[in-house]
Amino acid sequence: MEIEFVAATAALGGKTALALIVFDGDVMSGAAGQLDTQTGGALSRAVAAGRFTGAKGQVLDVQGASGDAARILLVGAGKAEAFDDVAVEHASASAYNAVKTSGLTTLRIVLPSGDADQAARAALGVRLAAYRFDRYRTKEPADKKPSVIKTQVATGDDNAALAAFAPLAALADAVAFSRDLVSEPPNVLYPEEFARRVKALESLGLEVEILGEAEMAKLGMGSLLGVGQGSVRDSQLAIMKWYGAADPKAQPIAFVGKGVCFDTGGISIKPADGMEDMKWDMGGAGAVAGLMHVLAGRKAKVNAIGILGLVENMPDGNAQRPGDVVTSMSGQTIEIINTDAEGRLVLADAIWYCQDRFKPKFMVDLATLTGAIIISLGNDYAGLFSNNDELSGNLLAASGAEAEPLWRMPLPVQYDKNIDSMIADMKNTGGRPGGSITAALFIQRFVNNVPWAHLDIASTAWKKPSNVPTSPDGATGFGVRLLNRMVQDKYEG
Ligand code: BES
Ligand code: MN
Ligand code: ZN
Repeated sequence: MEIEFVAATAALGGKTALALIVFDGDVMSGAAGQLDTQTGGALSRAVAAGRFTGAKGQVLDVQGASGDAARILLVGAGKAEAFDDVAVEHASASAYNAVKTSGLTTLRIVLPSGDADQAARAALGVRLAAYRFDRYRTKEPADKKPSVIKTQVATGDDNAALAAFAPLAALADAVAFSRDLVSEPPNVLYPEEFARRVKALESLGLEVEILGEAEMAKLGMGSLLGVGQGSVRDSQLAIMKWYGAADPKAQPIAFVGKGVCFDTGGISIKPADGMEDMKWDMGGAGAVAGLMHVLAGRKAKVNAIGILGLVENMPDGNAQRPGDVVTSMSGQTIEIINTDAEGRLVLADAIWYCQDRFKPKFMVDLATLTGAIIISLGNDYAGLFSNNDELSGNLLAASGAEAEPLWRMPLPVQYDKNIDSMIADMKNTGGRPGGSITAALFIQRFVNNVPWAHLDIASTAWKKPSNVPTSPDGATGFGVRLLNRMVQDKYEG
């Protein structure tokens, strides 16, 4: 998608849809009112006939209006008082979604004001909405393919809008990178291929180290390696480093992602129905990789570490068994009760390695960890678990600002005994009740005195169908935006 910032008075080219973003209850003020006069009242007639009020999400196609535009849309943005960054993005994304396969090639967006920051946010909204994963389509009919290839956003200050858009364009690139990883089929994106793709991000200025199985064995990562033991694909640990702070030795912040490139459940095998969705079980690692992408892309003034635990969980003659006991890098032993509770086993070693080597200011892990979080929170909220109120507060604030909803969940000490084992230091499942909580308590056993938060994104890493205009069906890239915002607002400088 090509983005341009233009003056509101710039002439419309051919094949252009004109989208006027208007407020609830104030539809005919500003640009819409002028155009209504120019078109002999076509807009106000369409508004009345279409019962258009300007409520959030409403899109009105004004048929038969004369004028320079090939097509005119009114897009409801909701109440003027609530027109924040996300409302701008959503209105612009709705405009794009309405015309993307119209046959027109250009979308012109006119916002209620010419504000440059809002224009930049509108461009972000369109970039995110225009994401698609079409690598494996060979014969899509032309009328199903998006025709709109350029978006022009009207603004009073195109230079300021371009400057404001630069970091947001980096964000859109990073979200697309993350969504691509999550969308790739599991025969293509296995641990080594995932590692190659993050290694390629060195072109952005990141440093990326990849550890293979022999190196991890030397470090004593028996917990992570046990998960990948039944796969013909080698497990990998990717360590992504971004040193953007004025002092490259300043204490880093750290992010750890679950990267199970495919989760069959292992010997505790999952039912066939819907198992294909388990290609998405690397969504946590995908989000961390996306975050590192945007930090480097916009040259964030922070030192940040991203650690990805990349494995494939398969049943096999050599696979881990229920009943096995493994020794983690921390030295703690784990009795495997269910080989399908593998994400926490990967995180146990990845988190330990992270705090041991980098002594970070805090650690945030992201993981498609439990089906139970979907039962608890539905598909709009991810679960937040944390040992630290300040870190939680920062995550929740960023979550609100970027509309990637989090809900804080408890870490009750009295549930911790549910993961005690008869023969080892702990077992890897705590039963069905509070399944997301006991999973988080398990991870907490590998966190020393470090502020830590765990985001269970099994509920939000993909959506089919999506109910967010900036996120097409499928991989969402959930986490990239909220973590980027938190870093920007609280940890840079
Ligand atoms: N990757 C799954 C969690 C998951 C389930 C993500 C559904 C997205 C949709 C995870 O590895 C898993 O299998 N968890 C088990 C844990 C159980 C065996 C204790 C689960 O949630 O059922
Ligand atoms: Mn599993
Ligand atoms: Zn899993």
